[in-house]
Amino acid sequence: MQSKFEQLKTEALLAIKSVSDKIQLEDLENKLLGRKSGELTNLMKGLKDLTDDARKVIGVVANEVKKDIEMAFANKKNELLNLDWAAAVEKERVDITQPTLPHSERGTFHPNTIIQKDLEDFFTSMGFVVLDGPELESDFFNFTAVNVPENHPARDMQDTFYIKNHPGMVMRTHTSSMQVRSMLKQGAPLRAIVPGKCYRNEATDPRHEHTFYQLEGFVIDEHITFAHMKGVLEAVAKHLYGADTQVRLRPKYYPFVEPGVNGEVTCFICKGKGCRVCKNTGWLEIFGAGMIHPNVLKEGKVDAGRYQGFAFGLGLTRLAMLKYGIEDIRHLESGDLKFLKQF
Ligand code: PHE
Repeated sequence: MQSKFEQLKTEALLAIKSVSDKIQLEDLENKLLGRKSGELTNLMKGLKDLTDDARKVIGVVANEVKKDIEMAFANKKNELLNLDWAAAVEKERVDITQPTLPHSERGTFHPNTIIQKDLEDFFTSMGFVVLDGPELESDFFNFTAVNVPENHPARDMQDTFYIKNHPGMVMRTHTSSMQVRSMLKQGAPLRAIVPGKCYRNEATDPRHEHTFYQLEGFVIDEHITFAHMKGVLEAVAKHLYGADTQVRLRPKYYPFVEPGVNGEVTCFICKGKGCRVCKNTGWLEIFGAGMIHPNVLKEGKVDAGRYQGFAFGLGLTRLAMLKYGIEDIRHLESGDLKFLKQF
């Protein structure tokens, strides 16, 4: 019996040595040490038929053989693992001496992004926070909450895309959709801008596009007046077009402000003399703005007796077109690299 154990050990060690992968090793381990019918297991079961004396002697041998075989398996497992690692490391080797790709391959910022980043810097320097909101928005926040109730004619001012099988959801038509959202979340006082993508159901032409960017701003605090609003708009205009830029405000209806204005700046191209870009008026319309309507403050759970606020919207896309003299708005969403690499 002793020799059977020893023979099994010799064979087992040889077999383990010649194995070259994990699966083979597992099969072999099962074949030799498997609980039910492993070869060594079976041999050990025979021990119980021996006399007490013989069992004592052979039992010792049997245990040593088992230990040696188990040790051989453990070593082999380690060896295979190390091989795996070596292969993985080899596969991931990076040649740190390889020259870098030429810099001409570097990307450029989209014109909208350039304007957006510039204005984010400018507004944060005046204590505004930058907020982000959903482009797929509820009908409530886009319209109802900003004083455009269902079935009100003001809904016709901004037609958008409605989502099939998702009643009550729209692609936001303006960043004003974030006014009430942020009032509900942050409460008053509040000083924020919201740059982002907006959508409208437009027949596209060089001046109209279904997708464009706006930048919304609002300030809510005690004792906020129309003069604060004008001051901020003037600061923005001077930042964009130089210290001699003037701002002109003229009444305009927006449902969510009262009074509402459209804000114009002196044309930075002709300096107010009149040219093709300003259609000979000397002025460029770049803002929609006004004092936030009390109904909107109420929707935002802001105490309209204590707080006032103003809001304004800038067309980021329009600013980019003006700044770079882009004649057709459709270039901006085209993804055309010939166009984009100019910036
Ligand atoms: N949301 C308006 C628009 O898209 C712009 C605006 C914003 C006007 C804030 C007034 C106040 O036309």
